Amino acid sequence: MAAEPINLFDFEALAEQKMEKVEWDYIAGAATDEITLRRTRSAYDHIALRPRVLTGTASVDMSTTILGQRISVPFMTSPAGGHGKAHPDGELATARAAAKFGTIMSMSANGTHTIEDVAETVDGPRWYQCYFYRNRETMAGMVKRAEDAGYKALIVTLDSSWPSKRERNIRNDYGNRPRERKNYTPEQVKEGQQLAAKSKFDSGLSGRGQNDPGATWEDLKWLRTVTDLPIIFKGIMTGEDGLLAAEYGVDGLIVSNHGSRNLDTTLSTIETLPEVVEAAGSKVDVLLDGGIRRGSDIAKALALGAKAVMFGRPIFWGLNYGGEDGLTGVLEILRDELEITMVLTGRPTIASIDSSLIRKMPPLD
Ligand SMILES: Cc1cc2nc3c(=O)[nH]c(=O)nc-3n(C[C@H](O)[C@H](O)[C@H](O)COP(=O)(O)O)c2cc1C
Repeated sequence: MAAEPINLFDFEALAEQKMEKVEWDYIAGAATDEITLRRTRSAYDHIALRPRVLTGTASVDMSTTILGQRISVPFMTSPAGGHGKAHPDGELATARAAAKFGTIMSMSANGTHTIEDVAETVDGPRWYQCYFYRNRETMAGMVKRAEDAGYKALIVTLDSSWPSKRERNIRNDYGNRPRERKNYTPEQVKEGQQLAAKSKFDSGLSGRGQNDPGATWEDLKWLRTVTDLPIIFKGIMTGEDGLLAAEYGVDGLIVSNHGSRNLDTTLSTIETLPEVVEAAGSKVDVLLDGGIRRGSDIAKALALGAKAVMFGRPIFWGLNYGGEDGLTGVLEILRDELEITMVLTGRPTIASIDSSLIRKMPPLD
């Protein structure tokens, strides 16, 4: 491997060498047999790009608008808890790298730093992610804090309503490791721990035991009464749910399988994207995350109807390599690879990327 990482897989390998094994396994791992984890990555390899020539494309403009916000590139960070596991600057570094790049940072409820500290470190576009908690007052309180701190949209993650079975964490006894839970009050932490203790599979994610498996679409109506922020539902993996989300009037959707961390043997997100776009794409901005590692992956997702994409694990790899600068390196590589893809397929703008960019192909082997 080159001394300097030249692609995201190099960043991954370097982080694996450097990080404590149990923390590495927590970040890299996924549910049960990790079948969906592999599929979510490999599915991109079965979509072919269609190069075009003599298009006169000498430069590209990657800027785009998502939920009314202008961003410089069609990719951003997924909400992921505990950036401090990878680097002491944690979410502060993530927010600064994203802001410098002109894109959105999604702040997880399970941050190593607080909602307010992240807001204060830099003035950039930020979204806040939380869950339907069993205790709706907890949710309303956290949403209010995010709103007061200037976050511009609310992501509600829906696919984590039950503790998952992540076997690497079980083998590593990861659930017993101390957690930083800066965004929760001590009472909320205790409540979460008591609920989590009921499941032998719980990986110990902060707040996890607080997530409400009883939530329904009707809860969106309640959520609208406590916030004016645009609401994005994360974890949509079927056309049926895409349609319901559009009918209930959410502002955005994220096609996501939570990095394959919750339910194994689902389809990959890139395979699922077309049915969600068909069901909801005319009414709602659709984003995607899962397995985005190359600039060409981003172009393929846009060709299939995503407005933008997000990435999770590469945040940790970049931070681990060098905090803010390390994550900036990850963002730059994605931008440069996307630029190559756009020039050589004759797509000078994001709007010019359509389904004619790609062809799905059967596996060669
Ligand atoms: C270590 C880690 C922590 C995560 N924490 C959260 C979280 O707090 N909230 C959330 O909505 N998703 C969380 N996710 C899922 C990501 O938002 C995202 O869906 C996933 O990482 C995308 O797949 P990728 O890692 O292949 O890019 C987490 C993922 C990882 C790897």
